[in-house]
Amino acid sequence: MLKNLFRASTTIKDVPVAEVKDVDLTHIPQHVAIIMDGNGRWAKAQGKPRTYGHSAGAKTLKTIVRFADKLGVKVLSAYAFSTENWKRPITEVNFIMELLSRYLTSEIQDFKDNNVQVRFMGSREGLPPVVNAKMNHAIEETKNNTGIVLNLAVNYGGQAEIITAVKKIVQDAKLGALSPEDINNSVFENYLYSRNLPPPDLLIRPGGDFRISNFMLWQIAYAEIWTTETYWPAFTQEMFLEAIKDFQRRDRRYGGLNAGK
Ligand code: IPE
Ligand code: IPE
Ligand code: MG
Repeated sequence: MLKNLFRASTTIKDVPVAEVKDVDLTHIPQHVAIIMDGNGRWAKAQGKPRTYGHSAGAKTLKTIVRFADKLGVKVLSAYAFSTENWKRPITEVNFIMELLSRYLTSEIQDFKDNNVQVRFMGSREGLPPVVNAKMNHAIEETKNNTGIVLNLAVNYGGQAEIITAVKKIVQDAKLGALSPEDINNSVFENYLYSRNLPPPDLLIRPGGDFRISNFMLWQIAYAEIWTTETYWPAFTQEMFLEAIKDFQRRDRRYGGLNAGK
């Protein structure tokens, strides 16, 4: 087992990490979901506008995607904009849309160079056409990549996702493609935005709040939750590692009993 443990001052491929140790590489969560919260408060704390925090948050995402990939995480789902975030001032909403658009342009080469496959969850309705176009472009350009899946939640809400799935199921049933007795967990999951992805094993929420905020309601049924007071722009690789180490100490029972208990 020792050969599978990182020791202090180890370099994970080209990502140097000061305190990488005691991580079991045979037990890395396949899918990590992150509620990237606290951008606005991080900026305000330094006397800057909230938008400054969103830009900084996008940089943190870049670092964490890279690091997660090096550790062997297969899917990283990141909550970028919720169906409820439209309630914010129009100037902030516009800034986030422009930031997303710029991010998808500036990062595309990096995604290609690092074999990152980009996907999205959420409703495309109501998004600016330029954002929709950049999203399609990112999907198209990275669809054959075989490295980490970066699954960005944009105009995403877990409740809306479930309602959308139910509507499609009813339509298919009306067309005779499906009957009530056919519906089970895996059939239902095929109607969700996350189809073909495993459920998150680990859910990380920075920013100090202990709530789900409508993120992946169906998929996180048995996810392990890890939170930190640190705001997302200040979230580090070391914290990500802490979350993984904590995950590795958890006893996942899925409602059953583990051997010997
Ligand atoms: C998360 O940070 C990003 C989005 C919701 C778009 P916030 O903007 O919610 O920052 P806080 O939570 O207000 O500090
Ligand atoms: C969750 O954060 C949404 C994103 C991180 C994109 P919010 O800031 O919207 O959540 P609440 O309002 O604190 O629940
Ligand atoms: Mg918030």
